[in-house]
Amino acid sequence: MAASSSFIFISLLIFSSLLYVSEADDYSAPIVKGLSWDYHHKTCHKLEKIVRKHLKKVFKDDIGQAAGLLRLHFHDCFVQGCDGSVLLEGSHGGPSEQTAPPNQSLRKQAFVIIEDLRNLVHRECGRVVSCADIVALAARDAVHLSGGPDYDVPLGRKDGLSFATQNATLANLPPPSSNASTILSSLATKNLTPTDVVALSGGHTIGISHCSSFASRLYPTQDPTMDKTFAQGLKEVCPTNTTDATTVMDIYSPIKFDNKYYVDLMNREGLFTSDQDLYTYKVTKPIVESFAHDEKLFFEEFVKAMIKMGQLQVLTGEKGEIRAHCSIRNPDNKNYFSYLVEEEDQSDLETRAELR
Ligand code: HEM
Ligand SMILES: *[C@@H]1O[C@H](CO)[C@@H](O)[C@H](O)[C@H]1NC(C)=O
Ligand SMILES: *[C@@H]1O[C@H](CO)[C@@H](O)[C@H](O)[C@H]1NC(C)=O
Ligand SMILES: *[C@@H]1O[C@H](CO)[C@@H](O)[C@H](O)[C@H]1NC(C)=O
Ligand SMILES: *[C@@H]1O[C@H](CO)[C@@H](O)[C@H](O)[C@H]1NC(C)=O
Repeated sequence: MAASSSFIFISLLIFSSLLYVSEADDYSAPIVKGLSWDYHHKTCHKLEKIVRKHLKKVFKDDIGQAAGLLRLHFHDCFVQGCDGSVLLEGSHGGPSEQTAPPNQSLRKQAFVIIEDLRNLVHRECGRVVSCADIVALAARDAVHLSGGPDYDVPLGRKDGLSFATQNATLANLPPPSSNASTILSSLATKNLTPTDVVALSGGHTIGISHCSSFASRLYPTQDPTMDKTFAQGLKEVCPTNTTDATTVMDIYSPIKFDNKYYVDLMNREGLFTSDQDLYTYKVTKPIVESFAHDEKLFFEEFVKAMIKMGQLQVLTGEKGEIRAHCSIRNPDNKNYFSYLVEEEDQSDLETRAELR
């Protein structure tokens, strides 16, 4: 009790200092055709304010949700591109991306938060912003409001019309038991460089994991790469290979987006093989060291890699749609037609207001 309330106290202290991080740093990266930095300026200029304001409130109650939103964007983009497909409920007889094993540990609340944001944004601007864009913005704010860099997100994604199959999901999300060379070659198929891979893995500076994601490093035999004291601690959280419990992924600063994840790796306190092996493998080891020593460098490379990841196989222009509900594609949405009528009424009102 005392321990947990002091933890909450410290968390609050860290968190209140996090809410007032410096303004947008000026990072930039190339953008794909069809997306632009100011895509919604005319049609929804309050978009970014609405998202950030709501998320500040959400994170004040539970900063853990930031990690859930960051991971959701990663899963969306890696499987079939950043098209909001991860949000779709399987409805066409066939298991969906959502029901594939890697999804099972996505936070339920992340889906609720995205739908709440969509609702707030569409109420203000009409159905002009896609769920995929909202996921990308939410991930950006998750990073920044946890203490990480602020950056601009290229916008204009459309939502996909179909969800990915379980197989595609499994093929595109490497398991945490992968070694670094497997991770590098898997991510190279998405044009991500070793620096991108090491930087993106730094997403594990916040958030939690279930025992099942790393139990194979503890049982039946302990991974010799793992620090002994760290392993002992993990065994207390996960006393058997089937314990259903969770632990933080960056023991040094679990709710702060910083470069301590790389310090953990150098201390052999990385949680997954896919993390720890980045410090064993000769190609990625110097990159881990450079990020551990230089947080600014990490932030720069993380932003570049996130902007790259955020543009994987995006649908733009006439492709895709803007969903009226993030978990249902429009043609399947029973309320879609009544929604359209409402929307027309609303734009009518807006036109009249403008004329006044
Ligand atoms: C490179 C390959 C990656 C692997 C193998 C991997 C694997 C995992 C696994 C197994 C979990 C824990 C799931 C659980 O047991 O609850 C996790 C959590 C997480 N991952 Fe990754 N991940 C990878 C890349 C990324 C990337 C690129 C990002 C974002 C930039 C990311 C962000 C997160 C976050 C924030 C969490 C915590 C989620 C929460 O607290 O709800 N991961 N990852
Ligand atoms: C996948 O995730 C979504 C959202 O958390 C959830 O509704 C769905 O039931 C999950 N699928 C499985 C099989 O757990
Ligand atoms: C998915 O993968 C499984 C196992 O690899 C295979 O048996 C199955 O036929 C695949 N399904 C599709 C639709 O490709
Ligand atoms: C990495 O894992 C793959 C697949 O399990 C294996 O074939 C390869 O030998 C491993 N590489 C190293 C360097 O351990
Ligand atoms: C847990 O360990 C037991 C005994 O070694 C083994 O039979 C079982 O398959 C393991 N379960 C998992 C989920 O690894």
